[in-house]
Amino acid sequence: MTEHSRKNCAPPVSGRQPALVLGIESSCDETGVALFDATTGKVVAEALHSQIALHAPYGGVVPELASRDHIKYGLRLIDQVMRDAQIKGNQVRAVAYTQGPGLAGALLVGAQLAASLAFAWGKPLIPVHHMEGHLLSPLLADPAPAFPFVALLVSGGHTQLMRVDGVGEYTLLGDTIDDAAGEAFDKSAKLLGLAYPGGPLLAKLAEGGDPKAFAIPRPLLHSGDLNFSFAGLKTAVANEVRRLTGTALPARGAVSSAQPTLPVDHASRADLAASVQAAIVETLASKSLTALKQTGLKQIVVAGGVGANTRLREALTAGAGRIGAKVFYPPVALCTDNGAMIAHVGALRLAEAKQDYAINVRPRWALSDLRPVNL
Ligand code: KG4
Ligand code: ZN
Repeated sequence: MTEHSRKNCAPPVSGRQPALVLGIESSCDETGVALFDATTGKVVAEALHSQIALHAPYGGVVPELASRDHIKYGLRLIDQVMRDAQIKGNQVRAVAYTQGPGLAGALLVGAQLAASLAFAWGKPLIPVHHMEGHLLSPLLADPAPAFPFVALLVSGGHTQLMRVDGVGEYTLLGDTIDDAAGEAFDKSAKLLGLAYPGGPLLAKLAEGGDPKAFAIPRPLLHSGDLNFSFAGLKTAVANEVRRLTGTALPARGAVSSAQPTLPVDHASRADLAASVQAAIVETLASKSLTALKQTGLKQIVVAGGVGANTRLREALTAGAGRIGAKVFYPPVALCTDNGAMIAHVGALRLAEAKQDYAINVRPRWALSDLRPVNL
């Protein structure tokens, strides 16, 4: 259990009474629960259970196993958070949950938990967009950005550049036309014989490698727009692995769910990892800086799991510094999925809370569909 003390970033709620929002995240492979106080803008208590070990043998998330595990841990974590904060259900102002996007079955578990508790406590519900949780999590850092800003959203399923003018005021500037950045990390990692999820492991392997050792393409780097394409990277990595091992990898898709045994020396694997990472980082950083120049904005926030990548942080900070802009990151623990970012958005959208317990998850849901909130 982690106790946080954070800058006031949610809209102040009248009076000095705490306005506690319980947040539940269950969109993919992490069960996250947190209590956020909209009055103070602070996370009061939080708990997280990661399913990484559960899915690792399969090389990726198995949706059915994810749902079952959310059922197993959801109530346990809620109980833990409520005990840690010494809170009873009648002291909670509202219950926020991830309504989408994500795995349908996994989302249903969190939604059902949230609705059942809210119903039993006689409290309203707030459905939250998972990516809005990521997008606004840099507001929980100190210093926090002020609107408007550019956001680079980089997760396992998303690679987007957004113009953010306020809560719910999102304009899409650029998107990936195929794989997401996190997907490129994960698929390359798998080809290098690394376990799931490969992003952090690839980053670690890359530490001792030469980023210039292999010529990995930077698709769309000079396209003039703000779109991304990462699907070609896994093919480039597969070709290099084939060249190094002298063996043919599975032709279509190249990525098998089994852990490949890789008869390649550590130095070459590290070089290849560093080269792929450099290609992804250079592309993300270059387009982010172009977004800043095109919008004329001077602040960029980085959110989503890939935002934990140290090289990406360094490249963005250096590049933004050169054009007089500033980069904001959420605390590293809030980069990957967690309950605090959902409870935080719940607090920002407290005025939308309703005693409507109909469950309606949205596995596919565009951020630009969200409505603005007047703070
Ligand atoms: O936001 P997130 O936790 O879940 C989604 O909503 O998708 O992002 C997970 C993604 C995975 O692809 C993971 O490999 C990647 O973030 N990731 C990283 C790092 N940490 C997590 N990628 C590169 N470097 C890291 N340090
Ligand atoms: Zn996420």
